[in-house]
Amino acid sequence: MKIQVSPSLLASDFGRLGEQIREVIDAGADMIHFDIMDGHFVPNITMGPPVLASLRRHCTVPMDVHLMITEPEQYVDDFIQAGADIITFHTEACRHPHRLLTRIQEQGVKAGVVLNPGTSEDEIEYLANMVDMVLIMSVNPGFGGQSFITDMVRKIENVRAMIGDRDLEVDGGIDDTTAKQVIEAGANVLVAGSYIFRHPSYLEAIETLKAAGGEGN
Ligand code: DX5
Ligand code: ZN
Repeated sequence: MKIQVSPSLLASDFGRLGEQIREVIDAGADMIHFDIMDGHFVPNITMGPPVLASLRRHCTVPMDVHLMITEPEQYVDDFIQAGADIITFHTEACRHPHRLLTRIQEQGVKAGVVLNPGTSEDEIEYLANMVDMVLIMSVNPGFGGQSFITDMVRKIENVRAMIGDRDLEVDGGIDDTTAKQVIEAGANVLVAGSYIFRHPSYLEAIETLKAAGGEGN
């Protein structure tokens, strides 16, 4: 599968988000990863729908919106209104994930579920044929710059076996080394914050991640 890179804005300069988005798109970003945190589901607060709506015109690739919020069903419509193209929410935060996936998809937006490191992939077995994407957290959500949890490689393999050719995204601690491991295990969308935004060349960083999949990517 073709490897896609979704830079996480969490590691960018929030004072110039529009510019940073355009810079990583010019450097080859396939989508832009928005980390939405509410201070309840995770111990950090970031941005909400009005910020996304303002950034929409800068974002010429899909907006990949990762909701780290409790009761995501309360807010998905606002994020769709703001221009989200892909919405993923945590199964740990949602009582009726099947219902919410359907509701998002009915509005013409791609929908996916996210698994914390401590959540088993068994949780999503009965959603495997309807999700557009599964996002596997390879760190505990809430902050950028954490170390990749190696045990997640096995989970990636298991989820790939479950979902066929649907998108499998991995988020947390992705760099040139861990990218190889997760691609080999079956990931096709890589989220990276610190690795890209701390790199002297966004172009080189994104190319390196894509090349981690070997020839043809
Ligand atoms: C963590 C976020 C990630 C984070 C990744 O809660 O979901 O998207 O920004 O950051 P790095 O790539 O620095 O681990
Ligand atoms: Zn994320």
